Amino acid sequence: MGVLGAVISHPIWAACSLVLAVALWARRWRRWSPGTCPVDLSGKTAVVTGANSGIGKFVALDLARRNARTILACRSLERGQAALEEIRRATGNPQVQLRILDTSSMASVRDFAQRFLEEEKRLDILVNNAGASGLPHTVTAEGLELTFATNFLGPFLLTNLLLDAMKASAPARIVNVSSFMHYWGNLDLKFLTGEEPLKNRSHVYNSTKLMNVVFTAELDRRLRGTGVSVNALHPGVIKTEIMRYYSWWHRLLYSILGFLFLKGPREGATSTLYCAVSKEVEGISGKYFDSDCSLALPLALAEDPAVGRKLWEASEKLTGLGRRGPQVGDK
Ligand SMILES: NC(=O)c1ccc[n+]([C@@H]2O[C@H](COP(=O)([O-])OP(=O)(O)OC[C@H]3O[C@@H](n4cnc5c(N)ncnc54)[C@H](OP(=O)(O)O)[C@@H]3O)[C@@H](O)[C@H]2O)c1
Repeated sequence: MGVLGAVISHPIWAACSLVLAVALWARRWRRWSPGTCPVDLSGKTAVVTGANSGIGKFVALDLARRNARTILACRSLERGQAALEEIRRATGNPQVQLRILDTSSMASVRDFAQRFLEEEKRLDILVNNAGASGLPHTVTAEGLELTFATNFLGPFLLTNLLLDAMKASAPARIVNVSSFMHYWGNLDLKFLTGEEPLKNRSHVYNSTKLMNVVFTAELDRRLRGTGVSVNALHPGVIKTEIMRYYSWWHRLLYSILGFLFLKGPREGATSTLYCAVSKEVEGISGKYFDSDCSLALPLALAEDPAVGRKLWEASEKLTGLGRRGPQVGDK
């Protein structure tokens, strides 16, 4: 009869299986959906980092459909070009543009920001989506731990360099794509800057995702009264290329789970789009949203102003932001 037959034939097992199946499907339910949100973004400009694959591509696609001038900020010309063509074809929006940005390189972030400020008139929505997990421990040419630079320090610098443009375009929104994995992170900068050996790959990822949330709360405190809001979110556990740097068996397991239970990147874009465009989020800032678009409590220390200030000052120091003289990424 086999295992499945045995499970189905026993009433208790059958009932448990049914409850489990319903619970898994219920997790797919969301209280908001981009399709039911009529917001039009004609005349607005949006930047989406890491827009060539996964969640970022579907976020950019939706913003382009809403007629935003949509800048795809990607590190690969080839992959970015493919996404650009796909999004232009799907939306018919000629205002979709590609710019090169590698968030792990402060020089690339500065180049991107400089060109953006020279060429663009406004910035209404900034989606800090680019991110990587499972990268081997590497110190970049600028002396920064690679995952830390990619997921946190680059987005920190980028946001700061574009802030004046956003203030001038207010009301404007910043969206930081974090993760529920931030609950397992910590803020020990020593191993993130390469001064101490790394504990493990997941730990550094979780810590950078915690930094995204701490940064969101601290930036909100600094932006009050400017008309620029900032929120962080968990997109859900989504079937994307996020596992590409893990071992084959991790990837296989993720693919099997993905096939059976996980949502695709289109659904994975929902909570990011909720923060970026929905009317419901108007006037809300400094918060953390869950994958079903509901407000959630982040790790308590993420909301501690002393922690936020400390991370901000350390990041300013590392990037040289706001200081005269040589800065990381300057040519
Ligand atoms: N998938 C999930 O289950 C999950 C859960 C929680 C949070 N997230 C977060 O969601 C965000 C999007 O991830 P995803 O799941 O869509 O994964 P993905 O398919 O791997 O997409 C990641 C995107 O980020 C880009 N990227 C990576 N490193 C970059 C760099 N140094 N500079 C510029 N772009 C870079 C990638 O570009 P390339 O193609 O050039 O590598 C890609 O476009 C990430 O911040 C991730 O941490 C995902």
